[in-house]
Amino acid sequence: MSPREEYLASPSYNLAKQLDHNANSDEQNVSELELGTDTETKNDIGSKGNTGLKGSNIEVEIVPDQNDTSLELTLRPKRLEDFVGQNELRSHLEIILKAAKQRGQAADHILFAGPPGLGKTTLAGIVAQEMGVGFRITSGPVLARGGDLASILTDLNDGDVLFVDEIHRLQRTVEEVLYPAMEDFQLDVLLGKGAMARSIRLDLPRFTLVGATTRTGLLTGPLRDRFGHVSYLDYYPVDDLTHIVTRAANVLGVEIAHEAAIEIARRSRGTPRIANRLLRRVRDFAEVKGNGVVTQKSADDALKLYGVDSLGLDRMDRQILIALCQRFKGRPVGLSTLCVSVSEEPETIEDVYEPYLLKLGLIERTPRGRIATPLAFDHLKLDLPWTLALEE
Ligand SMILES: Nc1ncnc2c1ncn2[C@@H]1O[C@H](COP(=O)(O)OP(=O)(O)O)[C@@H](O)[C@H]1O
Ligand SMILES: [Mg+2]
Repeated sequence: MSPREEYLASPSYNLAKQLDHNANSDEQNVSELELGTDTETKNDIGSKGNTGLKGSNIEVEIVPDQNDTSLELTLRPKRLEDFVGQNELRSHLEIILKAAKQRGQAADHILFAGPPGLGKTTLAGIVAQEMGVGFRITSGPVLARGGDLASILTDLNDGDVLFVDEIHRLQRTVEEVLYPAMEDFQLDVLLGKGAMARSIRLDLPRFTLVGATTRTGLLTGPLRDRFGHVSYLDYYPVDDLTHIVTRAANVLGVEIAHEAAIEIARRSRGTPRIANRLLRRVRDFAEVKGNGVVTQKSADDALKLYGVDSLGLDRMDRQILIALCQRFKGRPVGLSTLCVSVSEEPETIEDVYEPYLLKLGLIERTPRGRIATPLAFDHLKLDLPWTLALEE
């Protein structure tokens, strides 16, 4: 019996298989991720009741629904050429994939980092599609034990892409299984128990690991070092988002004025997923209040109704700014204090809200905490506290 056959026949493999099947069967993983019910949208705007967007007088919540998630699937670009923006990243990726293809090898492991909704999962799918290989999806939090990962790895075919979403949330023990797999395409397996126990090394197929994380800083050094390529996704400029909205409207058969597409793009927090979602809401509005054609006026009216302000900030963004400006009067505030005051998880604040507010220059991070900038006071139409006004 070869070591691989021995392992496949061993109780530890069967147990791992069983666990894998019970706790997170692959089909379930895939559908969960593809439908975007959990991992995909967890950090997203409006996925929790308390982060819904609210208008000034009428309360309307934008909560992703079943249609949103299936919409996300239809709108997801399949080829690199359909992927809008992120030009530098795209040209790097093109070279990496072309070179690997020419050599007839699996591409090097790739890590995509960036806030939710910017296209990490989409890119992972594109890597598999462009290489013409199989695509397997799993995510850091669902891999509870080394065995879970081992059974996925032994099941891969040569060249396959294994996508691990939220890879920063891998357990240490699982990460340790991943190291030799990524580096030498080998798997260490412990067979037997006690004095009879022995460790064997199995050869794995050459696969490409594609990882996604919200921040590379969350990854352990050894894991980060094992990626041949680390790509950062940044918020999209309005031009690119306009392009994305127009493309999505085309796919959905929505008639939309160019100015309306720009309006939606401007107010999407630089995020394609939000742009697509707002487009759908604006279309609903245009269908109910008009003839279904999305004009700049109907886009503007709809976005006002949904509580998306002129900068694209939603209710939680504004709550954070109001806390910093009004409650703490422009003084530095620690993350945990801020979280308590707006009732939100620290990770969500750090991964979802803060990066965009920082990008707009509405807040700053200092060693003593987060502070609101004069721009934030201006945006909320609040007077600067005299201490800040003196500094100006
Ligand atoms: N560059 C892009 N061009 C077109 N659509 C995009 C792009 N990036 C993201 N999208 C859209 O945004 C949605 C969310 O992207 P996704 O890859 O799931 O983000 P992430 O995995 O980073 O959270 C996708 O369904 C896709 O339709
Ligand atoms: Mg994703």
